[in-house]
Amino acid sequence: MRIAVIGATGQLGTDVCRALAAMGDDVAPMTRAELEVCDVDGVARVLREVNPGVIVNTSAMHHVEDCESRPDQAFEVNGLGARNLALVAGDLGAVLIQISTDYVFDGAKQSPYLETDLPRPLNVYGNTKLAGEHFARRLAPKHFILRFRALWQKPLPGKGRLKLRWADAQAGPGARRGSGGGR
Ligand SMILES: NC(=O)c1ccc[n+]([C@@H]2O[C@H](COP(=O)([O-])OP(=O)(O)OC[C@H]3O[C@@H](n4cnc5c(N)ncnc54)[C@H](OP(=O)(O)O)[C@@H]3O)[C@@H](O)[C@H]2O)c1
Repeated sequence: MRIAVIGATGQLGTDVCRALAAMGDDVAPMTRAELEVCDVDGVARVLREVNPGVIVNTSAMHHVEDCESRPDQAFEVNGLGARNLALVAGDLGAVLIQISTDYVFDGAKQSPYLETDLPRPLNVYGNTKLAGEHFARRLAPKHFILRFRALWQKPLPGKGRLKLRWADAQAGPGARRGSGGGR
């Protein structure tokens, strides 16, 4: 079964493609140049050609400050982008794996969040990611929504922000906490 990975050049997308390929899966890595999630017609055309059984959506606009300053763009990528993928997943009968975030919650709970907890996003990033979840749930009959708190990876070329996060990871718990950044 073919697995299309959207956002294949990103932090998570790179690792997902690598891991799937190592397991012998038929991976179709989709860069932004090949598939722009905001382009509903382009998404449909490209994915119909690729004909995946599974679509993993790792694409996002997740820099918190950028989302606050450009909310329309954040909704287009995180919300409508997920909608566009979910529509095609539904048409193709494919499974959509929608990557989301703990930012859909307000962080007030003193114990670990459960799937059944009511989301309450406090910022544009969290709101737009929650919109993406709703689209996935509503439009892709076969879907999984995975909410991550933080991703750690060896830095990708040209991604300075991730170098800092990698350095934090190496330093261990209690190391410098960044203000905002990407999530
Ligand atoms: N990073 C974290 O700590 C963290 C924590 C919790 C959840 N998450 C979630 O995990 C997922 C992956 O995050 P990540 O850190 O791997 O992100 P990332 O490194 O920024 O990668 C995002 C990928 O999406 C692509 N992309 C962005 N806008 C696009 C668009 N309009 N159309 C198509 N592709 C687009 C980017 O391509 P270009 O680089 O070419 O623009 C990039 O390849 C996201 O859903 C994010 O919300 C991340």
